Amino acid sequence: MVNAEAAQFGFRSRFPGLSPEVTAFAPGRVNLVGEHVDYNDGLVLPMAIQLGTTVVAARLEQWVVRASSARVDSQIEFRVDPGGRVMGVTPDLGWGRYVAGVWTELAREGIEVGGAAFYVDGDLPVAAGLSSSASLCAALSVALVELCGGAMDARAMAHLCRRVERDYAGVPCGIMDPFAVLMSRAGHALMLDCRDETIEQVPIPQSLELFVLDSGVARALADGRYALRRRECEAALERIRGIRPEIRSFRDVSPDNLAEIVRHLPDPLDRRARHVVTEMARTREAADALSRGDLGRFGGLLDESHASLRDDFEVSLPAIDQLVREVRGVASVLGARLTGAGFGGCILAAGLAGCAERVRAALEADDHDRPRQQSRMFVVVPSSGVV
Ligand code: GLA
Repeated sequence: MVNAEAAQFGFRSRFPGLSPEVTAFAPGRVNLVGEHVDYNDGLVLPMAIQLGTTVVAARLEQWVVRASSARVDSQIEFRVDPGGRVMGVTPDLGWGRYVAGVWTELAREGIEVGGAAFYVDGDLPVAAGLSSSASLCAALSVALVELCGGAMDARAMAHLCRRVERDYAGVPCGIMDPFAVLMSRAGHALMLDCRDETIEQVPIPQSLELFVLDSGVARALADGRYALRRRECEAALERIRGIRPEIRSFRDVSPDNLAEIVRHLPDPLDRRARHVVTEMARTREAADALSRGDLGRFGGLLDESHASLRDDFEVSLPAIDQLVREVRGVASVLGARLTGAGFGGCILAAGLAGCAERVRAALEADDHDRPRQQSRMFVVVPSSGVV
C-alpha cells in the first residue's frame, strides 16, 4: 500500500494551491482458482492483496476534472456538466477512460459530482492479472463518493466498476474483480457465486504461503483475446442448448455428464466447455480443501487449473508454462498456476510458510537468460477489501 502521506504530497506537487480533501485506497486481487468462469455463472475464489491503488482528491470550483498519476506522465483533463455529461473524452484518453467512466456512472446513480482533481498512486503491477483496473475504479469511486458526501452500497459500486471496465475501457469482463476488491475480508478468500452473487468468506490457513511471480509478459485485455474466449463460451453454450434446452448456463452441466455433452461440440468449443465446467468443480473443491486445511489437495487443484487453462482454454503462453514448471520443481511448492485472464501476467504459487524464499533462491541460482523482471516475485497477504 502506498503511504497516504506520500500520495498527499504527490497531490500537492501536481496541484499547487489545492489541499487534499479525501484519500481512498482499494486493493488489487489475486484469484486463487476459478478462472474464466465468472462470466459463465460460475464460482470464483479470489482474495484482496496488500498492494493496491491510492487516490487523493479535492473538489474544484470549475466544471472540470483533472487527473494525474504517479505512474504515468500525462495529465488527464476533461470538462463535465451538471447533467452528468463528460466532454472532450477521446479514445486516446488512456487511463483517463476509467476516471471519465467512474465520474459519469456515479452521476447517473444520482451522486452529485462536480469538478474534481485526482492524484493516483499505487504499487500494483499493471497489466499483470492482479486487477489494477478494478482497483483503480474502486479507489476512484470511493474517493468521489466521499468527496460528495454521498453513500453507496458495495454491490452497487462493484457493478458500477464493472460497467466502467466494459463500457469505457472495452473489456467485457465479469464481476469477480470488483467484488474481490470491494468485499474481501482479511485472512480470507472470497467465494463468490457469480450466478446469484452470494458470497462466503473462506478462512485461509496461516500455514499456507501464497506468492505471485510476474512473468514479465504484459497483457492487454482490450486487444480482443479475452472477448474472443467469451464469444467461444457463448457459442459452445448455444450448441449445448440446441441439444439440451434445459441447460441455461455451464453451471447446469455437471462434471458427470460433461463427456456426453461435449462430444457434440467441435474443437475448440469442446475444450473451452470442458475447462469451464471442470474449473467450477475445482473452485468448490479448493474452498473445501482450504476449510479442511488440506493444503496438499489445494495445491494439486492449482496445478490442475493450470493444465486446463493451458490445454483446454488456451490462455497460457510458453514463457508462463516454463515459469510454472520451474516453480513447481522446487521442493515444498504445493501447486502453481497462471492467475487472472492469462495471455501474460502473473503466476500464483502455494507452499508452506518459508516456501517463497526457497523459490527465490532456486530461481536466482538457476538464472539462465531470464530477463530481470521475470523474477519479480512477492508473497501475497489475504487482505481486506474496501468496504
Ligand atoms: C479478468 C476479468 C474477470 C475474469 C478474469 C478471468 O480478470 O476482469 O472478470 O473473467 O479475467 O477469470
